[in-house]
Amino acid sequence: MTQSLTIRRPDDWHLHLRDGAMLQAVLPATTAHFARAIIMPNLVPPVVTSAKAMEYRDRILAAVPEGADFTPLMTLYLTEDTDPADVAAAQASGLVHAVKLYPAGATTNSASGVSNFDKVRPVLEKMAEIGLPLCVHGEVTDPDIDIFDREAVFIDRVLDPIRLSTPGLRVVMEHITTKDAVDYARTQDDTLGATITTHHLVINRNHILAGGIKPHYYCLPVAKREEHRLALRAAATSGDARFFLGTDSAPHTDANKLLPCGCAGCFTAPNTLSILAQVFEEDGALDQLEGFTSLNGPAFYRLPANTDTITLEKSGANYPSHIDTADGLVTVFDPGFPLDWAVR
Ligand code: DOR
Ligand code: ZN
Repeated sequence: MTQSLTIRRPDDWHLHLRDGAMLQAVLPATTAHFARAIIMPNLVPPVVTSAKAMEYRDRILAAVPEGADFTPLMTLYLTEDTDPADVAAAQASGLVHAVKLYPAGATTNSASGVSNFDKVRPVLEKMAEIGLPLCVHGEVTDPDIDIFDREAVFIDRVLDPIRLSTPGLRVVMEHITTKDAVDYARTQDDTLGATITTHHLVINRNHILAGGIKPHYYCLPVAKREEHRLALRAAATSGDARFFLGTDSAPHTDANKLLPCGCAGCFTAPNTLSILAQVFEEDGALDQLEGFTSLNGPAFYRLPANTDTITLEKSGANYPSHIDTADGLVTVFDPGFPLDWAVR
């Protein structure tokens, strides 16, 4: 039985680091294991220009713990006022690696996102021309659409039409949660990639709602039925290069999670690799872990894979149940089963 596994150092292709005290507190969990991460721009106010992205990158770099080697890959938050020239300049300077599309109102701090997709057409066309990926939060926000159907409806009503009308646009379907998304991704060409989170490989909607409500399992897109979780597991462990890790690790204080209207997000940065090793081993696919965490993402983003490695050992994972921040405690995602694998 495999007791130790050495893989190229992973990257996280979808990460929320927040700002200020929260950034200081959560960043070390990522830099301990990951070399790079695509940084989500949904701050308050959002990161809407290259100037704002540069300032945010500098604050992240200032918070990197001594001795750690970490590169934040910045993104711009797409609004109906985004300037195609600013986007192109941000990519050309090497600062920005993607633009993030939030449908207005879809999730945390998405109020400045897009309602009228015609208004962002010039930006999307520029991005197709220069090869800059569009990271998509793929849920419709129409109150008439059931929350469990919002991803599948988004693919039909928004994503597919955008891709058909913008040939060459490179798109990442982020944090996919349905068999519909897996099936769609599998039929597309190499302009399409899809990230999968750690938590969506582990929980289904019963974990959130059966036997009492579990706010720490509430995230967006919300976890779906078991058949969808199994489709995500099959995609992640398949070796198909279209699928790669984006943790969507999204810290909120317990005070903000445990409210009558609590925040969406699972904080998985500290134990993601332990959980993934367990999941891939359970599915007889440990040999595919490196592709999912360390190779497929860089290939999509046209970046070299990391040259250094990490080693996972089957010695029992040790991670805190909470981390302490100046804003209050943040609960670490509990997969609900013991974790055998630890990053050495
Ligand atoms: O669960 C989530 N939390 N989903 C998102 O899309 C946003 C994120 C956050 O920023 O908290
Ligand atoms: Zn996210």
